[in-house]
Amino acid sequence: MVRQVLLGSTFVALCAGVTGCGGGSGRGGALVGEAPQQPAPSTPAPPQEPPPPEPQPPDPNPPEPHPPGPTEPPVDDAALRASLRQAGVGPVILRPAEPAALITLGEALFFDKILSGPRTISCATCHHPQVGTGDALPLSLGQGASGLGAARRASRPEQVIARNSPPLFHVGAADMDVLFWDGRVSRDPRTGALTTPEPALNGPTPARPDLAAPLTSALAAQAMFPVTSPEEMRGRPGEDPTNELADAPDNVAVWARLMARLVGTHDGTVGGVEEYRRLFRAAYPDVPTYDALTFGHAARALAAYQAATFNFFDAPLDRYLAGDDGALSPAAKRGGALFAGAGQCTVCHTGPLLTDRQLHSIAAPQLGPGVGGERDDRGGALSTGDRRLDYHFMTPSLRNVELTAPFTHAGAYATLTDVVEHYRDPTGALLGYDPERHLPPEFRHLYARDPTLDQARLASLPPPLRHGLPLEPSQVRELVEFMLALTDPRARTPVRVPASVPSGLPVAD
Ligand code: HEC
Ligand code: HEC
Repeated sequence: MVRQVLLGSTFVALCAGVTGCGGGSGRGGALVGEAPQQPAPSTPAPPQEPPPPEPQPPDPNPPEPHPPGPTEPPVDDAALRASLRQAGVGPVILRPAEPAALITLGEALFFDKILSGPRTISCATCHHPQVGTGDALPLSLGQGASGLGAARRASRPEQVIARNSPPLFHVGAADMDVLFWDGRVSRDPRTGALTTPEPALNGPTPARPDLAAPLTSALAAQAMFPVTSPEEMRGRPGEDPTNELADAPDNVAVWARLMARLVGTHDGTVGGVEEYRRLFRAAYPDVPTYDALTFGHAARALAAYQAATFNFFDAPLDRYLAGDDGALSPAAKRGGALFAGAGQCTVCHTGPLLTDRQLHSIAAPQLGPGVGGERDDRGGALSTGDRRLDYHFMTPSLRNVELTAPFTHAGAYATLTDVVEHYRDPTGALLGYDPERHLPPEFRHLYARDPTLDQARLASLPPPLRHGLPLEPSQVRELVEFMLALTDPRARTPVRVPASVPSGLPVAD
C-alpha cells in the first residue's frame, strides 16, 4: 500500500507496506532522486489532492503574502509501526548468557594493557565506556599515541589507524555474525565455520582447533586480531626491547607469547600473572592444564564481557513499537516514516539493529593512511577480492548512534545532520568535502582530495543513492530526530571501569 502525504511542496510516496519501497539496492526502479510525483502505475490508489489549507482567522496586520505553509498531517501510528516492522525493526535477540567467571576474566583482559606489545594500550583505549564504546576520534590512534578519547594524540604518522573505531553497543546481539567495516571476520551460524584473516582458524576443520574451538561467535574470533596488528596493539620490531610480540614470526606465535605473559609457561610455573591463572582457572574449570589454554580462550572471555556489558537495546523506539504512542515525538515519527519510506534508509538499515550486516557503498569521504598505506580504502573489495565491492563498507548499526560520533568508516562526519546531508547529495558532499568544517584540527591534514578516486567512489554508489535523496531541511531534522530515538537512556551512563587490572598496569589513561 502506498499513501500520499504532503511533504514540503511535493508529493512523495511513503510506503506502509513492502511493495514499491526500498526493496534492495539492485532495484533500479526505486530511485529516490526520481521519487515519483505520481503514484507508480501499479498503484491502485488515485492521486489525491493536497488537503486544503487550514482556515485561518482574519489577521488585521497580514504579513507579507506567501503561500500557505504545508500543515504536517499527524503520522498514522499503525502504518508507521507496520512499515518499521516490515523492515525487521524490533526487539534485539541477545546471545545466550555466558558464565559470570568468563565475563570477569573478559573484563580484566579488556582493560589490561598487558595485551599490547609495549603494554601501553588496551581494548578500552579505543573502545572506552566513557566515549560511547569508541574513541571519539575520526580515526583511531594506536600504540605509541597517548591520552584517551578526544584528547588522544599521535606523536608519529604511523600511529594513525586506517579506520574509525566502531562502537560496541550492538555486539551482544545474537545475529552479529559479520564484523569489521569490511566484514573480514565472520562466522557461519549453521556450521560454526569461521572466515578470518588467519587461515589456521578458518573453515569447518581449522588447522588449529586448539585456537579455533573456543571461538563460539564472530565476536570471539574478532578479539584474536587487535593484538596481532602492529599499529593497534602489537608494536613494531626495534621500537621497544621489552616487546617480545613485535618480532613474532606469525599470528599463532603472537597468541602463544601473549598466553606466556598471562598464565606463564611450563604449566603456569614460569612467568605469567598469578591473578590471571586464577581467573582463567575459574572461567575454564574443564581445561585440565594452563598449557592447554590458548588465546582462543582469552578471546572468548573478551567476547563474553562485551556481549554481557554493552547491551543497551531499550530505546524510545522499542517502547513505541511495543505500543506506547507517546514514546516518539511527532517529529521523530515523521522521521521514522521517512526512514522506512521515501528516505529509503531501510534499504540497508534494517532489522533489530538497523543494519543488514551487508557491505554497501555510500561514497563516504576518505581520509587517513588508508589500508596498505595507499591513502585509499576499497573496503569490501580488499577483504573479498571482489572488485564489485569497491568502496563498500558494513552498514553500521544505528542503535545508540547519537553517542558514537564521528561517523562512517573513516570518521569523516562529526554529526548526524552531516551524515543525512551526505545522503541528500552524495556527489556534492564527496566532491565538496571540507576538512575544516568536518574534522578536528589535528586530523585535517589527513584528508587529501583525490578527484580520480572520488569518481571511483561515486561510481560504486547503488542506484538509490546516485541522485541523492530529495529531503527538505525540515526532513533532515526529522530523520535525525528519529535516530535520536534509538538511544537507550542507560547507554548514557558509562559502564564500570575497573579500578585496577591483574597486571598492575595503569587503567585510568
Ligand atoms: C588502536 C585502537 C583499537 C584497539 C586497541 C582495539 N580496537 Fe577494536 N577496533 C578498532 C578499529 C579502528 C576497528 C575497525 C577496524 C576495521 O573495521 O577494519 C575495530 C573493530 C572492533 C570490533 C568490530 C565491531 C564491529 O561492529 O564490526 C570489535 C568487536 C572490537 N574492535 C573489539 C576490540 C577488542 C576486544 C579489542 C582488544 C582485544 C580491541 N577492539 C582493540 C580500534 C581498536
Ligand atoms: C545503500 C545502503 C544504505 C542506505 C540506503 C542508507 N545507508 Fe546509512 N550507511 C550505509 C553504510 C554502508 C554506511 C557506512 C559507510 C561508510 O562508512 O563508508 C552507512 C552509514 C550511516 C550512518 C553513520 C553511522 C556510523 O556509525 O558511522 C548513519 C547515521 C546512517 N548511515 C544513516 C542513514 C540514513 C538516515 C539513511 C536514509 C536517509 C541511510 N543511512 C541510508 C548504508 C546505507
